[in-house]
Amino acid sequence: MISPSILSADFSNLEKEFKIMDEENVDFIHLDIMDGNYVPNISFGPGIVKSLRSLTNITFDTHLMINNPENYIDEFAKAGSDIITIHSDATIHLNRTINLIKSKGLKAGLSLNPHQSVDILDYVVDDLDLVLVMSVNPGFGGQSFIESSYRKINEIRELIEKRNLNTLIEVDGGVKINNAKKILNSGADILVAGSAIFDGKDTRENIRKFKSLK
Ligand code: DX5
Ligand code: ZN
Repeated sequence: MISPSILSADFSNLEKEFKIMDEENVDFIHLDIMDGNYVPNISFGPGIVKSLRSLTNITFDTHLMINNPENYIDEFAKAGSDIITIHSDATIHLNRTINLIKSKGLKAGLSLNPHQSVDILDYVVDDLDLVLVMSVNPGFGGQSFIESSYRKINEIRELIEKRNLNTLIEVDGGVKINNAKKILNSGADILVAGSAIFDGKDTRENIRKFKSLK
């Protein structure tokens, strides 16, 4: 599955890019929300998500790189997010925040930064719909894939299988057409790709390349 991250898209032309994603049937659309606090960069908030909602019915895969995400779950739910993924070190009571997301009828994801071990999943994975493996340090598009992510994806796949769960594994950061296969073979279900899809050349062709893998 593919979840294009619009962070690298031309924001003056989003309508056009959304039309292409819609026509090409991408699985999710990845929305990177950054607060300039949890990560050094600022992107966009629920107001933009709400406007974009009118352009497509595709699942909005919302990645919150913000501190205290619990204070914004309701707003993103109302804006039209379908999946909300948070970072464990951005919220004090992780279990409570995961339950809050689910109480809004949304799917809940947890993101692991490159330095974080899979151990953190032990007491939460049963409640998660998705685990997002950050294969770069969060904050910017266009960074290089961190190699240790392959092993982490593998370990998460083993954990999910051992517990007989349907939790999806999503991988975010530095995903390109030339490493995508190896990432999928390591056990990933969904690839997030920003700069590889929105390279300013041919979005449609880039999506097709990802969709023809496997
Ligand atoms: C980074 C974001 C990513 C980013 C990926 O903090 O979470 O979703 O858009 O961009 P690429 O695919 O260019 O690494
Ligand atoms: Zn992301």
